[in-house]
Amino acid sequence: MTTAAGPRIAAIARALDDEGYRERPIAVLDLDAFDANLEDLARRAGGTPIRIASKSLRVRGLLERALAHPATRGVLAFTLPEALWLVQRGVDDVLLAYPTAEIGVIRSLCMLPGTLEAVTLMVDGTAQLDMMVAATRDLRPGRDRPPLRVAIELDVSYAPAPGLRFGAHRSPVRTAEQAAALAREIAARPALRLVGMMAYEGQIAGVTDTARGPYGAAVRTMKRLSRPDVARRRAEAVAAVREVADLELVNGGGTGSLESTAAEPAVTEVAAGSGLIGPGLFDGYRDFTPRPALHLGLSVVRRPAREVATLLGGGWVASGPPGPDRLPTIAHPAGLRFAPQEAAGEVQTPVLGPEAERLRVGDTVWLRHAKAGEPAEHTNGYVLVAGAGTDADPIRVQGWLPTYRGEGAVFL
Ligand SMILES: Cc1ncc(COP(=O)(O)O)c(C=O)c1O
Repeated sequence: MTTAAGPRIAAIARALDDEGYRERPIAVLDLDAFDANLEDLARRAGGTPIRIASKSLRVRGLLERALAHPATRGVLAFTLPEALWLVQRGVDDVLLAYPTAEIGVIRSLCMLPGTLEAVTLMVDGTAQLDMMVAATRDLRPGRDRPPLRVAIELDVSYAPAPGLRFGAHRSPVRTAEQAAALAREIAARPALRLVGMMAYEGQIAGVTDTARGPYGAAVRTMKRLSRPDVARRRAEAVAAVREVADLELVNGGGTGSLESTAAEPAVTEVAAGSGLIGPGLFDGYRDFTPRPALHLGLSVVRRPAREVATLLGGGWVASGPPGPDRLPTIAHPAGLRFAPQEAAGEVQTPVLGPEAERLRVGDTVWLRHAKAGEPAEHTNGYVLVAGAGTDADPIRVQGWLPTYRGEGAVFL
């Protein structure tokens, strides 16, 4: 698939050439697109604070840039070692979005200065609670050591009929009664303190809506029916848990659902990350259009046949159910496609089409990853560019930011 992002990438490519940035592969982050996307997320959230999903960035400098915006509040992290690493580097509010079973790291959380106040762990059952209590038994909370902050994850997948279910398999806590029961279990353990709830409606936030035909219509209907179901169940569960504990935060949603999640009175903050980057999968939403902010440039290294050019690398296939939508988007030049029998290869990626005839060894083909954060695991850093591309405001290289990987920090 190709996109309308081409002219901007072409201008960025010329600017990189002018400034002597010729190494490939190269990952280029368009700061203008990133900042415009941040403003758009802020607009869509309508005043509800946005917690930045770090898995969708995995670049500390970009997290900091997003956190400097008044519409944002804190980080939604993906592993506990990552959360501690971020706190040690100055982030003071981290909600860990997924449960952890890292006993040693939970102990570190208790012992490192300042981390207990900054990090909230996600739980959805007593097994995690018992593990945390056992792991920290000899480190009892006291005057100097506050309890571990925990949040309950509520499952808000949509199950309109027996055997029919839309959404991710996440928490076993589905009802207000179950949430309140888990809240009481937490209250019974002095080593823990319940401070929040989170419910992620992946069947709305993570499912695109531009598919054509009956399937697309069915998806849009599912999303429309699911919204009031999510809102009702989230409100009931939050009310039931508030009978047991004061909640500092109720987190929900993602880039794909900001408007509907932020509109729920029970929600105190929304989560978003991918919308800052605008990866390939996010071309498929109707109500918002992020600007592509991350461009991956690969070298043409050979021309094996007419209308075929081969790139070095390119096999950056996204996680999730395998399918063509997990492949990178070939953004520039326009009109190229993958070879059906090879697709995006580990070290070699042939691209096909009449446009390939014009490519020479040493030229660059620009891809966009299907997902926002995963490219950061393939490169040490992003070259930053900005500028309107006019004579008055030319596109220029602004610097470079290391990815998590570039900082030697690979968490998943
Ligand atoms: C718990 C949670 N919240 C929010 C999100 C949304 O993140 P994004 O805005 O990057 O789609 C995700 C993504 O998977 C998630 O797991």
